[in-house]
Amino acid sequence: MPSLVHTEIETAVKGFLIDQEKMTEVVERMTKEIKMGLAKDTHARAVIKCFVSHVQDLPTGKERGKYLALDLGGSNFRVLLVNLISSSDVEIMSKGYNFPLTLMSGSGKALFDFLAESLSEFCHTHGLENESLPLGFTFSFPLQQQGLSKGILVAWTKGFSCEGVVGKNVVTLLQEAIDRRGDIKINTVAILNDTVGTLMSCAFYHPNCRIGLIVGTGSNACYVEKTVNAECFEGYQTSPKPSMIINCEWGAFGDNGVLEFVRTSYDKIVDKVTPNPGKQTFEKCISGMYMGELVRLVVIDMIAKGFMFHGIISEKIQERWSFKTAYISDVESDAPGEYRNCNKVLSELGILGCQEPDKEALRYICEAVSSRSAKLCACGLVTIINKMNINEVVIGIDGSVYRFHPKYHDMLQYHMKKLLKPGVKFELIVSEDGSGRGAALVAATAVQAKSKL
Ligand code: GLC
Repeated sequence: MPSLVHTEIETAVKGFLIDQEKMTEVVERMTKEIKMGLAKDTHARAVIKCFVSHVQDLPTGKERGKYLALDLGGSNFRVLLVNLISSSDVEIMSKGYNFPLTLMSGSGKALFDFLAESLSEFCHTHGLENESLPLGFTFSFPLQQQGLSKGILVAWTKGFSCEGVVGKNVVTLLQEAIDRRGDIKINTVAILNDTVGTLMSCAFYHPNCRIGLIVGTGSNACYVEKTVNAECFEGYQTSPKPSMIINCEWGAFGDNGVLEFVRTSYDKIVDKVTPNPGKQTFEKCISGMYMGELVRLVVIDMIAKGFMFHGIISEKIQERWSFKTAYISDVESDAPGEYRNCNKVLSELGILGCQEPDKEALRYICEAVSSRSAKLCACGLVTIINKMNINEVVIGIDGSVYRFHPKYHDMLQYHMKKLLKPGVKFELIVSEDGSGRGAALVAATAVQAKSKL
């Protein structure tokens, strides 16, 4: 069947279609950057920071007890109560709080007051106001961790830009907000990245889990490194514990220009309108916060040039960020030749009465953006697996893009297989409740460590 897609559209998205050779190049460059992040003498100028998480113990399955958890960093904010009852029974109660978007760019004080207020509301609802439960704080931004319960915010990502937080210990800011209220007794014992929660949560059931990956609003991965290689950890040569989870913060890969060969003119436009231009280059090619906008930019470019929708543009699609990343999953969920989801998306965007070639074009653009995302993510995972030099690994994954895109899992698997050395076995597993169960497991580690002092 001849392609229904206009050659001009094929040309426009060419830059997103990265081949095997380019993928191999991405792996090579990323390997260098990860090594720079880990090493003490190059860490300061490295873009992939490879932060030490201070989590050195993987779950044993014997962790027990009740923990509170906070989850900030994605599209919503949640408070959770996690009861680790047995290795097969974990009870989780959670509540999502409507996160006013103005908080993302307001003052740090307003943000932490809101977190404390939600936490207090949650504790009162569950009769926990007089219990001094340990709390694990899943805070999914780059942190320079100086201990399990001390993390300095290095930079905001994913559209956040609250004042007065960068350079501060986030645990102190939270604790101060809780103390200002004075109506609950909470003890923040651990702060962790969502990738770390995801790894821990998956490792609780799959002991061979060594990598945690998020492909959601943002994208990042963590992995289990040998403590002796975690040179930025003070005790890297003396610690009795052999492992250290490293939070790569791979979203910043390319901030020094090494990824220009996989970027397009559309990526540059997206970058310019974010609050952190020039930052999080890799993340902006991969994650849910940006994929929809990339599709929208290609589409409006094609409309303007008269190659789609007869050159007729809707008001809605002219609005920035109006093409949600979830639409990509919708459009790609239609079976070939069918357009049920596609029609729904088009009507939400106020685009009516278009023909099959237009719908095919839209699907083609969505596929170009999502397949580049999956390929780059595959490159990242392969880089980490090669670095770990292991032959078998389970990867715990969470995030809306991975969960809801109909082909993401398969694409990731396919490209990883092609890039990995023969014989390396891996399994990609959805990790449930990283910011709940994962946070509780890290909090449990922290409580145990304290009780040994
Ligand atoms: C951003 C954050 C990172 C987080 C990721 C996924 O990249 O900087 O800390 O893990 O998003 O949420």
